[in-house]
Amino acid sequence: MGSVNPGDAPRTPAAASRRGTDFLQLDPAAAPARGLTTWLADQLRAAIIDGRLRPGAALPATRILADELGVSRGIVVEAYQRLKDEGMVQARRGAGSIVTARPATEPAATEPAPTRVPFLPRRWRADADIDLSPGVPDLSGFPRAAWLRAERTVFNQASAADLGYGDPRGSYQLRHELVGWLARVRGLRAQPEDIIIVAGVAQALALLAQWLRDHGRPLIAVEDPGSRGARDELAYWGLKPVPVSVDEHGLQADELAKAGRDVRSVLLTPAHQFPTGAVLAPERRRSLVSWAAAIDALIIEDDYDAEYRYDRTPVPAMHASAPSHVAYTGSVSKTLAPGLRLGWLIPPAPLHTDLVTAKHASDLGSPALPQLVLAQLIASGDLEHHIRQARRRLRGRRDALLAAVRDHLPGAEVHGIAAGLHVLITFPRLAGQVRDTDLADRIREAGVLVQPLSVHGERSEVPSLVMGYAAHTADQLRTAVSRIGRVLS
Ligand SMILES: Cc1ncc(COP(=O)(O)O)c(C=O)c1O
Repeated sequence: MGSVNPGDAPRTPAAASRRGTDFLQLDPAAAPARGLTTWLADQLRAAIIDGRLRPGAALPATRILADELGVSRGIVVEAYQRLKDEGMVQARRGAGSIVTARPATEPAATEPAPTRVPFLPRRWRADADIDLSPGVPDLSGFPRAAWLRAERTVFNQASAADLGYGDPRGSYQLRHELVGWLARVRGLRAQPEDIIIVAGVAQALALLAQWLRDHGRPLIAVEDPGSRGARDELAYWGLKPVPVSVDEHGLQADELAKAGRDVRSVLLTPAHQFPTGAVLAPERRRSLVSWAAAIDALIIEDDYDAEYRYDRTPVPAMHASAPSHVAYTGSVSKTLAPGLRLGWLIPPAPLHTDLVTAKHASDLGSPALPQLVLAQLIASGDLEHHIRQARRRLRGRRDALLAAVRDHLPGAEVHGIAAGLHVLITFPRLAGQVRDTDLADRIREAGVLVQPLSVHGERSEVPSLVMGYAAHTADQLRTAVSRIGRVLS
């Protein structure tokens, strides 16, 4: 009996009884010599449960099925009777036997029982046709051809051992390429042995948070405003985030000392503060490093979108000036795609072994193939080429967004350096009149999704919105901003 894709399942009862049973993939050769009735009933029951036979579908006529299977008709009649006894099948006059329903205890195959997973992309995003949520790169610009080329090269060159359980720090090839890449792009000095490949910045934060918690250091300073996601993650791992204010020069480093001696770690985004877009001023960098050196504190440097600076080369990573106090982390989430879940962590040397042990305990190491492909993309120069192109495209989008803000949102102020994937826009004229959450709700009703700044901490009198522009064309951005203008007028 040929086996046919379940997608070919008959749509009408009549068609089912005429067309036979290929779609059920019944293979009598696999049946036991005795107990054919039980085997057939089991096969049909499985087909009902997994949705190949849906409620309302007709079972094949007993004679046809018996012929196809080469068994006596009595066996088929008896198997059908068992399913009738179980309430799964019903006799219908003129239509043979009809599937009635799946067993009540089994969830429908096509309608999985709803689960509540808090971090699934929010349903209400569907309300808005233009999603300006920050943090989303230009996924339509993913370098598919270059990735495929790199993947082919990897498959031609990779040894069998490359596909096995590897070094929990990550593939040597990738760590080797990253040494050169991070030196060129971020001014960072490291050796392959210093690097741990992780599943994005998120996993780096998880490993560091657990280390801090287990070493009796639950208090951690975070930027205010600062990434809500990062703060929530630290809290999930048992840390207590202590907000420290951010202004146009980045984190107010002198406030760290005031936070108390129990605060001996800080998470920050010095190259491009999220979400204000400020760069940490040089004197603040210096005082942060002095603070860390004085009390042996840990600075976690989240370098989340540093590759995208549009007006000049980005400031070097803090790690370059204080490797013994900085745990540096970055990923390909903004340059390639967050779905790759691929990033790196370079901790201070004394933490290294503990963090590798924790990485090993959590997943035995990150997936090998994407690491090898990324190494090849770096080695071939394709990653650099892709980022150069993306930078040009994103800069054009940022310019288009800013021009639209000037045209449609008079009085609005755009903050931050020319960098990254988002801008912070404040509305001083609306100070005290509307909360940013209400403003974002009204804008969503106009079909545009933006983020209120207060999501990320600070509650200001001046309503402020965070808007991502990377994933949209200049035309879409103009449309979005003109809709916002109409909401505000
Ligand atoms: C500031 C900041 N840090 C870290 C992350 C997480 O990055 P990853 O995808 O590398 O885990 C995000 C995600 O958008 C972010 O906005």
